[in-house]
Amino acid sequence: MKRMVFLLVAIALAFGIAGQVFAGGESEEGSGAGLQVGVVLPTKDEPRWIQDEQRFKDALEDLGYGVEILFSQGDPAREKANVESLITKGAEVLIICPHDGSAAGAAADEANRAGVSVISYDRLIRDTESVDYYVTFDSVAVGEAFGQYLVDRAEGSGNNLYLYAGAASDNNAFLFFQGAWNVLQPKIADGTFVVQNSSAAIELRNKRDLSRSELASIIGQVTTNWNFNDAKNLAEANLTAAPASAKGTVFIAAPNDGTARAIADAFGADGDVDTFYITGQDAEKASIQYIIDGKQSMTVFKDVRMLVSDAIGAAVAILEGETPAATGAYDNGAKDVPAIQSEVITVDRDNVQSVLIDSGYYAASDFTGL
Ligand code: BGC
Repeated sequence: MKRMVFLLVAIALAFGIAGQVFAGGESEEGSGAGLQVGVVLPTKDEPRWIQDEQRFKDALEDLGYGVEILFSQGDPAREKANVESLITKGAEVLIICPHDGSAAGAAADEANRAGVSVISYDRLIRDTESVDYYVTFDSVAVGEAFGQYLVDRAEGSGNNLYLYAGAASDNNAFLFFQGAWNVLQPKIADGTFVVQNSSAAIELRNKRDLSRSELASIIGQVTTNWNFNDAKNLAEANLTAAPASAKGTVFIAAPNDGTARAIADAFGADGDVDTFYITGQDAEKASIQYIIDGKQSMTVFKDVRMLVSDAIGAAVAILEGETPAATGAYDNGAKDVPAIQSEVITVDRDNVQSVLIDSGYYAASDFTGL
């Protein structure tokens, strides 16, 4: 009996692993004979990365190179297995968006040892010299857009501010928070805002330029781990701990659309919260509908088509023996990684039509009440 169970588990595991490779196979694009470019994305469980997959597929249709896209499902071990599988299949360039920026260093090193170039995509792979190039949005500007949106809507002093952050394993979470802090800190220091859910932020309220460990001390208290349930639970815990005087009109710096919807639902359900302003990013369809419906205040639109095009441009340059163009560099803890950076746009109810619909990014028919 025991042996039978063991056998079943072994079969299930084997199918699980095969299924993963297979899922990637479904995403194979391009007309080239072999595989030249491998793309590894963090998870299918967030609409943001499905957007990237779709935009890669759109862009790759006419590309004369073989490309395969794999997902790591938030698991660094699976991410490494994906990288190994793409190397074995002959990929010469890997475009990797790490789940965990530091843990992904081992996979990047393995690619480097195999002579494969590594392009870090959206999130920076940290603490290794094996990253050749970084394509990213201006993530500090994303956070500054959160801060500016809230500052522009606050009147007088003593406004209730709730801070939330992404996963500490994601370098971007630091950049977003740093950007938000750049704009919010002077307004916390002058009393416009009162932080209601982070003692670390209150302690650091008079300091604008925070070190990585100071940022980490705040992020540690207000992290959502980029997880919708964690975001909901944390918001509910914050609301339970807060007196009615910390509610009323509320300003919420939420780090992305998925967590913003979860946090907005929690604040919306609290009888002592009358009005809330809440940020987000990614222009996910569900959040565009929330913005149209007045349930989320803004999002930061990051045109994934630009990032995909930069990544493919860099990969093709490398395949053709050229050096990809760079507009700057990011310190990943081990080296300055040459980078190309895309701009971002604040979207709210007022410009959602012109920025996202009239531009053809989304179809009007995807939404109601426009
Ligand atoms: C990305 C965001 C995304 C978040 C959660 C960040 O690294 O830049 O666009 O919402 O990860 O997946």
